[in-house]
Amino acid sequence: LPLETLQSGGAGPLYLKLRQSLEEAILSGKLNHGDALPPERDLADYANVSRVTVRKAVDDLVRDGLLVRRHGSGTFVVRPVSRVEQSLSRLTSFTEDMARRGLNTRAEWLERGLFHPSPDEMMTLGLAADALVARLGRLRIADDMPLAIERACVSAEFVPDPLAVTSSLYSELEKKQARPVRAVQRISACNIKEPDAAMLGVAVGAAGLSIERVSYLASGRVVEFTRSLYRGDAYDFVAELTIPE
Ligand code: GLP
Repeated sequence: LPLETLQSGGAGPLYLKLRQSLEEAILSGKLNHGDALPPERDLADYANVSRVTVRKAVDDLVRDGLLVRRHGSGTFVVRPVSRVEQSLSRLTSFTEDMARRGLNTRAEWLERGLFHPSPDEMMTLGLAADALVARLGRLRIADDMPLAIERACVSAEFVPDPLAVTSSLYSELEKKQARPVRAVQRISACNIKEPDAAMLGVAVGAAGLSIERVSYLASGRVVEFTRSLYRGDAYDFVAELTIPE
């Protein structure tokens, strides 16, 4: 960070100059989303300013959402995302949606294995208690920005080996001729709590969209029951409306 020049360069309050250098570093990607900011004392020494100045600059950036303070663990960088426009009427996969925008996706796995279904999952997927389901829990990341946490549940019939799912669930289902053709999706507003906030790199209480998708095969059988948490600052859901017949 070019903080050494703070004292020399131009007029104006030091904290504003510090704020500006930090902001530039965040927006230009020199500091990455989720990076820890050095401790206040180190920043003050390094930039040759007082800790009060550092605190004021940091407070400003926290207020503007470019930094987030996490109790007991420090201050972290939040790089704003450009909002993604998502159609509400097309049944597509996350991987496809991101590829269409030229973004690369990857996942951090939170859960991936075969389990006995919970009562919820039994009901929704229409399975017996002794059936097996594949649970696929992922932090979904596009171009290094975490966008959503998705927990999919699918009958083990369609995904017998969850560890074989390395990227797209839908392309895995396609191989089994079980790609859904219809889905019902419910979207509700929520506030993001820990530990999800830390995984998504947003402040505790930040706006989120909780999305539930139940998707079906042409036969009417349920294939997928997925609960997701999307960052509220990253998505615009768009639907085309028509006059009822
Ligand atoms: C979207 C949906 C999920 C679905 C997923 C499949 O994100 N909200 O319900 O499971 O797409 O995406 P992919 O095939 O990339 O795993």
